[in-house]
Amino acid sequence: MRGKLISFEGGDGVGKSTQLTLLADGLTSAGKQVLCTREPGGTALAEQIRRWVLHDKGAIAPVTELLLIFAARCQHIIEVIEPNLASGKWVLCDRFTDASYAYQGGGRGIPGATIQQVEAVATAGLLPDLTLLLDMPVEYGEQRSVGRGEGSDRFEAQEKDFKIRIRAAYQARQQSDPGRVRLVNALESVDVVQAQVWSLVSALLGQEDE
Ligand code: TYD
Repeated sequence: MRGKLISFEGGDGVGKSTQLTLLADGLTSAGKQVLCTREPGGTALAEQIRRWVLHDKGAIAPVTELLLIFAARCQHIIEVIEPNLASGKWVLCDRFTDASYAYQGGGRGIPGATIQQVEAVATAGLLPDLTLLLDMPVEYGEQRSVGRGEGSDRFEAQEKDFKIRIRAAYQARQQSDPGRVRLVNALESVDVVQAQVWSLVSALLGQEDE
């Protein structure tokens, strides 16, 4: 049986990585084979593209950024995501295509129709079975990112208005596809968020049993 693809989305510092790890543990305990991966990244080539996009000091035009991220995604899908889904694994992905609509669309101002064209070529229509949108006001995410003490990448270094546009674009994605993209209140404690995530994922586990 084909596995499921679940993506985690949200602004920087909303706790995606923590929740992804907790979900992986939960699914493994439920007897699933799980693969955790991330975007941009997940293959050697795509991780190299990630370094350019996140840490290169030179200028990158918005459409170039979009094409690089979708090139990474294309390779990730062909090399990792599709084969693992086909072999029955559950693939948990730290960000996927919705992030391009949020960051390159909402953040950089690239029209949604342009992103759709690139998406059609790069992903052949692959979308997650479930997307968990961890949502919280921008100020809280910023505090958490600083608390982690990591050096900021090209997106984390952006001004607050950029982050507000990203949140709004994510919310718009959620509203246009509410069956797939489920909103999770990331202001709650780790345990409460984990419980929300598990109840949403349980519906997919139920589908498999049918
Ligand atoms: P993120 O996954 O949040 O990693 P970390 O936990 O190391 O901060 O960072 C990836 C960055 O890449 C994030 O700032 C958003 C950006 N990004 C895009 O701009 N577009 C995309 O399509 C994806 C997948 C990520």
